[in-house]
Amino acid sequence: MLLNNATNSRHPSEITLPHPRVFTLFKFIIKQCLDLLQYLFYDEFVKSRIHHTNTQHQQQTSGQIPGETGWAAGVVFGGCRSRQLDMMEAKPDLRVNIGRIELQNPVITASGTFGYGREYEQLVDLNCLGAIIVKGLSLAPAAGNPPPRIVETPCGMLNAIGLENVGIEAFVKEKLPFLRGLSTPTLVNIYGKSTTDYAELAERIDDIEDISGIEVNISCPNIKEGGIAFGTNPESASRVVAAVRARTKKPLMVKLSPNVTDITDIAKSVAEAGADSISLINTLTGMAIDIETRRPKLANITGGLSGPAIKPIALRMVWQVVQTVKIPVIGIGGILSAQDALEFLIAGAVAVQVGTANFINPRATIDIIEGLKGFLIERGVSNVTDIIGTLKV
Ligand SMILES: Cc1cc2nc3c(=O)[nH]c(=O)nc-3n(C[C@H](O)[C@H](O)[C@H](O)COP(=O)(O)O)c2cc1C
Repeated sequence: MLLNNATNSRHPSEITLPHPRVFTLFKFIIKQCLDLLQYLFYDEFVKSRIHHTNTQHQQQTSGQIPGETGWAAGVVFGGCRSRQLDMMEAKPDLRVNIGRIELQNPVITASGTFGYGREYEQLVDLNCLGAIIVKGLSLAPAAGNPPPRIVETPCGMLNAIGLENVGIEAFVKEKLPFLRGLSTPTLVNIYGKSTTDYAELAERIDDIEDISGIEVNISCPNIKEGGIAFGTNPESASRVVAAVRARTKKPLMVKLSPNVTDITDIAKSVAEAGADSISLINTLTGMAIDIETRRPKLANITGGLSGPAIKPIALRMVWQVVQTVKIPVIGIGGILSAQDALEFLIAGAVAVQVGTANFINPRATIDIIEGLKGFLIERGVSNVTDIIGTLKV
């Protein structure tokens, strides 16, 4: 703008409007300030919404809220923080597809760490999850291994639960009705001692509505072939998947064992045999010894290592498998936070499963979903799929 020096006032003809870019810049600065305020007061906003929802619920039920006291208070019926946040302007799209299965977000519970879902009902709004994968099921109920069957290790845990479960029949009768009431898709994890076990399980599940897919755990010992896990050899892995594929039209997610020399060989073989997606990794075989008694800490002697200790290995394997197959890959292993989940997504996983973290923080899944949302908002990314597979090497 030009100033009239003589009068120190502006002649109308001398007033020039700022360049349009200045307006754009101004709008941008205002938006950034609003975003910053929203970000800074996000927790307060959510807390107030949770309080509001709790009060409403209390009024409706005029009863005691389970978990009302103690650290879980306020989260039980606090509802889905994501939905609370949806009320605000920023709404990054967290939806992902695993083949035919559409998830509202990429956070799934890992088999064996979330029971049959209901066990977490008081702590987590189950309808906020991407999907629930239930405890591994066999044809007949299984008692699992004798205790001690869990040991804490540096940055992780060893478990030798031995795939204890209620069996497919009791699952369908007693556990599935609850899961049917949720909007979150349920995936059923299966295991067998022989290829025919797997095939029979798949057939039983095939016509059950409200089961969105089958996760095939191939880390189990193949009794007919001397107890070596199906998933440690491309041929036996392929045989199991082909047998399951022949008996079901449901989406098949095949879960790989990391206890192999070359994970890409196994990934290729299961993809060719008809897997719709691949999840990895299951636990790594390990052991721990009590130096006083000089006995193994687990009654089973060895167990499966999980938790943050295995994350770098899981991430490496996920990245390798992503380069090898064309089907979607789901990352598992030591995911405790949104940052961990993001590492897997950046490596190319379309979704993640959260396992051991559920034992440390029962609301880990929800915290991860919120963390992902926060990350996207902060960076102005509107869709989580824009993050997937963006690793720069
Ligand atoms: C106590 C426990 C029980 C598990 N049970 C199963 C199971 O039944 N089927 C299965 O495929 N994986 C099972 N897993 C493996 C987890 O689903 C997951 O692949 C593994 O723990 C790695 O993820 P994390 O480090 O997030 O726990 C189990 C893991 C733990 C810790």
